[in-house]
Amino acid sequence: MADLVIIGASYAGTQLALAARANGFQGSITMIGDEPHAPYQRPPLSKGFLSDAVDASSLPLQSPERFREERITLRTGVSARRIDRQARTVSLSDGAQLRYDHLALTTGARCRRLPCEGAELRHVYYLRDLADACDIKARAREASKAVVVGGGFIGLEVAASLRTLGLDVTVVELQERLLQRAVPALISTFLQAAHQQQGVRFRLETRIRRLLGDEVVTGVELETGEIIAADMVIAGLGVVPNVELAEDCGLAVDNGIVVDRFARTSDPAIVAAGDCASYPNPWMPAQAHEAGAGDAGRCVRIESIQSANDLARVAGATIADRPAPYEAVPWFWSDQYGYKLQMAGFSAGHDEAVMRGDMAAGRFTSVYLKHGIVVGADSVNRPQDHMAARRLIAARVRPDPDALADESVALKTLIPA
Ligand code: APR
Repeated sequence: MADLVIIGASYAGTQLALAARANGFQGSITMIGDEPHAPYQRPPLSKGFLSDAVDASSLPLQSPERFREERITLRTGVSARRIDRQARTVSLSDGAQLRYDHLALTTGARCRRLPCEGAELRHVYYLRDLADACDIKARAREASKAVVVGGGFIGLEVAASLRTLGLDVTVVELQERLLQRAVPALISTFLQAAHQQQGVRFRLETRIRRLLGDEVVTGVELETGEIIAADMVIAGLGVVPNVELAEDCGLAVDNGIVVDRFARTSDPAIVAAGDCASYPNPWMPAQAHEAGAGDAGRCVRIESIQSANDLARVAGATIADRPAPYEAVPWFWSDQYGYKLQMAGFSAGHDEAVMRGDMAAGRFTSVYLKHGIVVGADSVNRPQDHMAARRLIAARVRPDPDALADESVALKTLIPA
């Protein structure tokens, strides 16, 4: 019987194992994870877990019983060191060697580090895993002033959580607006105002020259010369994919482990999914106009749970010999204070935006169209719009913009039967 080894025990690894079983894979499944814990939910780490609304007992992704029932062997606290593609073996940090017929790389990504002097001082944090979140939480109990570097999702969620805990918070962002990589300007503006109302301060279009302090961080010095006092600094500067194992064994890597629509790497015995994988996404804009891209979509590496889960489902089906290409519409969410931001599709490259609802009241959806077709939507506190928007995008609907803007028309009524 075939053996499946999965390197990486988080969302993609777990979903891949379950999907392989759901598609009838009967062989052994071994999942390797370098953290000491069984797979757990990461989104709460910057949100409810940090602000004390959620405790650690609710974090596990699946119960131990479920892993047992599905015959998934979990080996935690151990990392994969080397892949031998000829011998089809994986060497582990504890000296063990595992043989595989199918190998899955779900190695994720790690935080980009602060590039400046003082980055090694104590009380300078990054947030990726449970241990990071516990450290930040422990320090937040003693600290009163925090500087957050990076106004992306991690930075803003941490800022909101620390503010909720009563800390004085300043966010420093390199770009001229928040979340530039992920959302259009109107959402950046809305969120910045929401944070400012809660007392968060911003320094945009600037970077940290150095972190100040002797052993322990006491502040940051900006490029402008301004000094901001801090007794903790949290950096959310984006992530870099963990591709070294794949690179070392000669797999194709290009800003992520390159896979096809069936999650197969350049070696047919190896699949990849999650934050480490770059794959053709059919919803990525402009794919139709690019030479060679065809209808398979443009390759992207997406850092989201949706992408990890959906590509892992594809990979699991591939392993079970029931291949079905990746087709899912991308979506993502972020919670900050009382606002739930939900994003569907890719808004980049839209040529028309329609506002639905009341931005000033903090309850609205901005729908993005390209050549009249719905390509994306960002909703704040309108979960029904978000759910409908995913289906509008999937159906490539070309709605009447007046109907989109009309709150008396439920978006779901615009979905073709
Ligand atoms: N100084 C200040 N800001 C910086 C610097 C710097 N030296 N370097 C990068 N930034 C800013 C970027 O301009 C960007 O706005 O940090 C922000 C990083 O945002 P993201 O790329 O969204 O990354 P991050 O917030 O760390 O989140 C990592 O976790 O929540 C998930 O899926 C989400 O992809 C995201 C991942």
